[in-house]
Amino acid sequence: MTNSPLNKNLSTESFLITRQQKEAINKQKAFVIWLTGLSGSGKSTIARNLEVSLFNMGVHTLILDGDNTRMSINRDLDFSATGRQENIRRVAEIAKLLNDAGVVVITAFISPYIADRSMAKTIIGEECFVEVFVDSPLKVCIERDAKGLYKKAINGELKDFTGISSPYEKPVNPKITLLTANESIGESVNRLVNCLKYSQFVKE
Ligand code: ADX
Repeated sequence: MTNSPLNKNLSTESFLITRQQKEAINKQKAFVIWLTGLSGSGKSTIARNLEVSLFNMGVHTLILDGDNTRMSINRDLDFSATGRQENIRRVAEIAKLLNDAGVVVITAFISPYIADRSMAKTIIGEECFVEVFVDSPLKVCIERDAKGLYKKAINGELKDFTGISSPYEKPVNPKITLLTANESIGESVNRLVNCLKYSQFVKE
């Protein structure tokens, strides 16, 4: 996509106010907290509660969530490997733009392929990409089945469903793993916030 011939007569514009100036006025460093995990693992719940904790610390954030973006900007995409790749590419580009505006971004996407998460890391910048594995066993996600999608997938009514008929490749070296089946949302969020403080992404 990025090397499309349609792009051959374009060049990058630079602007007069830098990202660093925008981060300074927002009194924060901009980065992306990239939540990855199975459907039903708790990514959206973690994202919402993390946003509350960060808000209370004075951090300006925005959540990008698969269920929302797939009904808006990414509504033309399916769940094939190429559809998911384009989903992640667009989301990473949007997250990068928000970072350029000095905003901290929390993303909640299954993002099942290592290669796609690696692409996202490259787009966003390695030093600004915090990969968080929201690790709930498939069995637990199937039992929860809040949206009834696992049932449909198991019955063959929904194709390419992650964990059932489409793969999930676990992160090799995430910044932190949240075991949402064993700890409360509060515990997971606290551990994540402490990790962000320790790594100096956010201030104490
Ligand atoms: S991703 O794999 O491309 O990263 P994304 O996070 O945007 O997926 O969207 C996942 C959400 O779409 C799930 O939480 C679920 O509600 C819904 N969904 C619908 N069909 C599928 C499918 N085949 N596989 C996974 N999720 C699906």
